[in-house]
Amino acid sequence: MTTSPAETTPIVIFDTTLRDGEQSPGATMTLEEKLEVAALLDEMGVDIIEAGFPIASDGDFEAVSEIAKRVKRATVCGLARAGAKDIDRCGEALRGAVRPRIHTFISTSPIHMKFKLQKEPAEVLEMVRAQVERARKYTDDVEWSAEDATRTEHEFLCRCVETAIKAGATTINIPDTVGYTVPEEYFAMFRMLIERVPNADKAIFSTHCHDDLGMAVANSLAGIRAGARQIECTINGIGERAGNAALEEIVMAIKTRGDVLPFTTGIDSTMLTRASKLVSAATSFPVQYNKAIVGRNAFAHESGIHQDGMLKHTQTYEIMTPESVGVAKTSLVMGKHSGRNAFRSKLKELGYDLGDNALEDAFNRFKALADRKKVIYDEDIEALVDEEIATFTDRIKVVSMMVVAGTQGPQTASLTLDIEGTERSVQSTGNGPIDAIFVAIQKLVPHNAVLELYQVHAVTEGTDAQAEVSVRLAEDGRVVTAKAADPDTLVASAKAYVGALNKLIIQRQRQVVAQARGPEGLRLKGV
Ligand code: KIV
Ligand code: ZN
Repeated sequence: MTTSPAETTPIVIFDTTLRDGEQSPGATMTLEEKLEVAALLDEMGVDIIEAGFPIASDGDFEAVSEIAKRVKRATVCGLARAGAKDIDRCGEALRGAVRPRIHTFISTSPIHMKFKLQKEPAEVLEMVRAQVERARKYTDDVEWSAEDATRTEHEFLCRCVETAIKAGATTINIPDTVGYTVPEEYFAMFRMLIERVPNADKAIFSTHCHDDLGMAVANSLAGIRAGARQIECTINGIGERAGNAALEEIVMAIKTRGDVLPFTTGIDSTMLTRASKLVSAATSFPVQYNKAIVGRNAFAHESGIHQDGMLKHTQTYEIMTPESVGVAKTSLVMGKHSGRNAFRSKLKELGYDLGDNALEDAFNRFKALADRKKVIYDEDIEALVDEEIATFTDRIKVVSMMVVAGTQGPQTASLTLDIEGTERSVQSTGNGPIDAIFVAIQKLVPHNAVLELYQVHAVTEGTDAQAEVSVRLAEDGRVVTAKAADPDTLVASAKAYVGALNKLIIQRQRQVVAQARGPEGLRLKGV
């Protein structure tokens, strides 16, 4: 559901994942990882890639230099403080770039100037002029940033911006360095600068917002509504402290709400999920499940009401399609909130077509399982329905079971089976709980079958996973295998064993009919 206004203004997307993002604690990437991220950013249509801070380390220098040589479409940018050494190192790193940009910054807020820089405003103003002029010796594309701009006195900020433009800056960035501003205030700040600073029209204004109060994206959008034409952002919103404005959120907000945000970006939004996964893998920063656009729950629905709505019309609960951000499809997550309609639809997707009664039974058992298990995977549902189908045809069924296990033997099993409509119970001991169960089954259903295989594996992950047990029985040349799943391994074992016996009965029955002989082995009525 995208809405496009008659006329849209293009917004420059400046990605700083490899600089501000990589700067955040623990997000360090190797050169190879940075090259891979840069290539993807270029392919997806990012206009400017801030590749690093060349003076910071030899590794950063090498990364900026390599990215500069390899990226052919996007502008490649390096960051530099106000010193000559910083700017020269940055210029050097960008030498191989087709479109190089130097991004140079200095703090302008009273608190930063006094405590961090220990400089008077007049000195800072002079440094602004000098840093931009020096950067211009390397490239015509110079961006100047007023660090901590949102806590800077307006009069002084205007003078700094004026000086930077006069010295040759073509982009003026107004960072909310500490994530302090709110949308109305940031909007007013751009309006004030664009109206008051002489020659403001000679530069492009840019937003750069941090997310300390969770408003980085909202503030960035307020900035472009006020006249800024560049947004600085990062994939997954990684960055210093709480991070930067998330690129994927900016892009999709603009794409989805064209009616109130009459802008466009050059980003191929279908690559957003891929970019998110790549950056998450490279930085080892997990993406929060409920993260907008790229979180794994962003297109997942569990509530019964929502799933029902989605099945009737996807726009009931989705404002963008999963395909538009590179997700294959919406997922209706099966859990305790899922309703009958979603369950039926899931069964259909898995290839099952159950009658009304079987469906009702399977649904009730699914609900019971969902109460005990956090995540229900397709395999869980398959195991559950396979069992459901078996219970409709089986002649022996497990009714109840109680097992006493532990270090103090012997282990005992009390078992009740429904044998062709009659409940029969027995108690037995064994060498371990499984042996006790199998001996109990043998007592209730005497047979000569030999246990050839007993295997347990978890259907899905986690300690609450369902156990799937396979049992193979052999008797007089007949070999049958049955599987059963249950969160309780012992119950699954009993069901699998009984399942195998049921299969033996059917095989025998066929043989009996074929050979017109009397029943043998299992002593069950009618067999
Ligand atoms: O947040 C900030 O102020 C910065 C500048 C270096 C642009 O990242
Ligand atoms: Zn920043």
